[in-house]
Amino acid sequence: MRETQLPYPLDRPIGIFDSGVGGLTVLKALRRKLPHRDFVYLGDTARVPYGRKPAAMVAEFAYGITEFLRETGVEGVVIACNTASAAALPELAGHFSIPIWGVIEPGVEAAARLTRTGRVGVIGTKGTIASGAYQRRLEQRGLTVWARACPMLVHIVEEGLAGSPECDLLLRHYLDGRDGIDTLILGCTHYPLLHDAIQRVVGDAVTLVDSAEALAQAVNGSMGANPLAGDPGRIVHFVTGDPLAFAHTSAVIGEVAGEVVPLPVTELIRLQRGAGPRPAAASQATRS
Ligand code: DGL
Repeated sequence: MRETQLPYPLDRPIGIFDSGVGGLTVLKALRRKLPHRDFVYLGDTARVPYGRKPAAMVAEFAYGITEFLRETGVEGVVIACNTASAAALPELAGHFSIPIWGVIEPGVEAAARLTRTGRVGVIGTKGTIASGAYQRRLEQRGLTVWARACPMLVHIVEEGLAGSPECDLLLRHYLDGRDGIDTLILGCTHYPLLHDAIQRVVGDAVTLVDSAEALAQAVNGSMGANPLAGDPGRIVHFVTGDPLAFAHTSAVIGEVAGEVVPLPVTELIRLQRGAGPRPAAASQATRS
């Protein structure tokens, strides 16, 4: 194992990653459940968006990032990105010996619990919707699914344009034709940052599902207590793109403040498969 790149030692941290700032919505939910836990967040903002890239490429990114996080000493990794969960979760879970959690199954479970009419909508990136990961799971539960890819919304969030007229225009366009659904899954971790705007467009009769809460419950259940209970947990953010823009968005989201460490994306690329020998394989707990 190479030397950890943490700026200071953390106690049994949990790793969490996304293509950008979207995963911070998941981190916020995790912090509320596990306030004494340390976290290592990786925002791959140099390579955002993942949603338009081929699944095999996203799976490679996810592999390199998970390996990087593992080397910082994390006890488990949360894939706080639907696109990467759809593209890579089974493979990562089969390869790494630490628990790996994804965001898709918790969102499906929550939607199945909440719907009264059995008609559920899901919005996500092109990659997530094209993978059929949500549609398959929802239909297996006997639900009728309306699904729509909304590729521009990630840019709206990353550019800090939530709540802008452009954002409302795009939402009206993307959500057109959703008639009959009573539940809408926000199948991209960037979308909770547009929650109010989405609710305005779909109306109060539609329940929005953000899988962060359900996921945090699952992680909490399997990670157990932190020996440092009493001290607030610390967060280290590694960011491959602009650290200032990232710090600004994390301040807007709130409750996810931490040290922001710039990380050259080449550090991740050299950990991808094909860039060197693979670490020993072993499989353990997983969730999708
Ligand atoms: N936030 C991510 C997701 O949940 C990725 C968005 C993107 O990079 O396209 O899918």
